[in-house]
Amino acid sequence: MPNSYKDTNLRTAAVIPAAGRGVRLGPGTPKALRTLGGVPILVHAVRAMARARAVTVIVVVAPADGAAEVRALLDAHGLPESTELLVVPGGDERQDSVRLGLAVLPPDVDVVLVHDAARPLVPVETVDAVVNAVRAGAPAVVPALPLADTVKSVDPVTDLVTGTPERALLRAVQTPQGFDRATLVRAHESVTKDVTDDASMVEHLGLPVLLVPGHEEAFKVTRPLDLVLAEAVLARRRATDGY
Ligand code: CTP
Ligand code: MG
Repeated sequence: MPNSYKDTNLRTAAVIPAAGRGVRLGPGTPKALRTLGGVPILVHAVRAMARARAVTVIVVVAPADGAAEVRALLDAHGLPESTELLVVPGGDERQDSVRLGLAVLPPDVDVVLVHDAARPLVPVETVDAVVNAVRAGAPAVVPALPLADTVKSVDPVTDLVTGTPERALLRAVQTPQGFDRATLVRAHESVTKDVTDDASMVEHLGLPVLLVPGHEEAFKVTRPLDLVLAEAVLARRRATDGY
């Protein structure tokens, strides 16, 4: 457990990898810069992090050739005065982008959230639950949901099914994933295996990863249909919650 737990001078940061192209969404503008309700997906994601009271530092990892453009975009949309914003260029893989974001964290940050720019609609309650679990002593915390589909393991060459893991033992995981800073930095320094999330690096270190309830609206905008769903969720929020 981080011994900084009771030190109110230490801060929580959110690193937002936004450097991907969004190949599965189809050709066009990089995914994080596409709009949802007229506002770039990345701006929604940054606001979702800033809405959590604990988060006072946000590091956006921009497409490698687009850091200045992203900085200007975020400045134009404005953030609460209390939030410090850093923008850095990203890398070839998501892991590289996260590592580049971690490298610029201010020294007084002890808890780090890593949140996909591609999850613009995560509710603040989910963010708070992750932060609280890390502050309570968990080195790594992940929001998770049960699966709707049955999942098969396969031989990708022959397309033959090799097994059916018991669905009740599986979870789909989301972001923000929350970490004790030192643990996450150590994981990124020592795990070079290809991974698709940050918690799996902490698993490789042999440390426990705690689940908290995820949220349907924290889904990742990945394919074109996800944009339709995201627009619908946003329209409903604007109509009912003055969002
Ligand atoms: N990401 C990143 N740097 C990369 C690749 C991905 O910062 N080199 C970010 C994406 O911008 C996204 C998050 O990681 O916010 C999750 O990745 P994913 O949803 O796979 O986005 P893309 O990699 O952009 O999409 P695709 O895999 O379809 O190309
Ligand atoms: Mg990707």
